[in-house]
Amino acid sequence: MAGKSGDTMRLDRFLAEMGEGTRARIRDMAKNGRITVNGVIEKKTDRKIDPEADQVAVDGRPVRYAAFEYYMLNKPQGVVSATEDRLHTTVVELITERKRGDLFPVGRLDIDTEGLLLITNDGDLAHRLLSPKKHVDKRYLAVLEGKLPENAALRLREGILLEDGTMTLPAELTAAEYAGANAYVLTIHEGKFHQVKRMFEALGCRVTYLKRLSMGSLALDGGLAPGQYRPLTDEELRTLRENF
Ligand code: URA
Repeated sequence: MAGKSGDTMRLDRFLAEMGEGTRARIRDMAKNGRITVNGVIEKKTDRKIDPEADQVAVDGRPVRYAAFEYYMLNKPQGVVSATEDRLHTTVVELITERKRGDLFPVGRLDIDTEGLLLITNDGDLAHRLLSPKKHVDKRYLAVLEGKLPENAALRLREGILLEDGTMTLPAELTAAEYAGANAYVLTIHEGKFHQVKRMFEALGCRVTYLKRLSMGSLALDGGLAPGQYRPLTDEELRTLRENF
């Protein structure tokens, strides 16, 4: 991937990576004279450009290069943690200011789960955050139907047997204040399918609302309403990179 000034890449790859469409569409746009490089119409999409130094525009609109993008999203309910979906809006589609066309969510939240989701195209960082070996902490707020047994915190701390016979790693449970609801914060260190819901089910309770509060050093910005997002701050990114 191009990154440092002086590295070159093909014009069509640059535009595709910046989300301007497929290579075929880009070729068409170029044929129609819609693409300029340094103010000059460019019809050859296989030419090399320096993405840091050359000024590329589509229909006169500058297309700026971003090697990596990092967004914190407060995922709303009803949206899927995927890059494409025929039925539902995806979390990536919510990032309307994205420059790149190759963003993806780091991990998945269920369609009815809200909260923190990191959206990026940095595959290395995503891989490290999701690696089962790293046991990255994930904190969830859960509202429950039913009453937890007295020894719930102890059982969760020791690891709990799920309905399919798998054991979870130790997890920490604390009571939480949430609009007078029967709410808890659960911190887990792995990411099995529907893990939080299945852990509470193993304790006889149904999760009626679930929200991810944090993942490793990254905590959901309380100023983001469901559906809102913002770029990570330099400090958040540095801390994530240092720790994972
Ligand atoms: N655990 C769940 O059950 N669902 C999620 O979306 C995340 C963790």
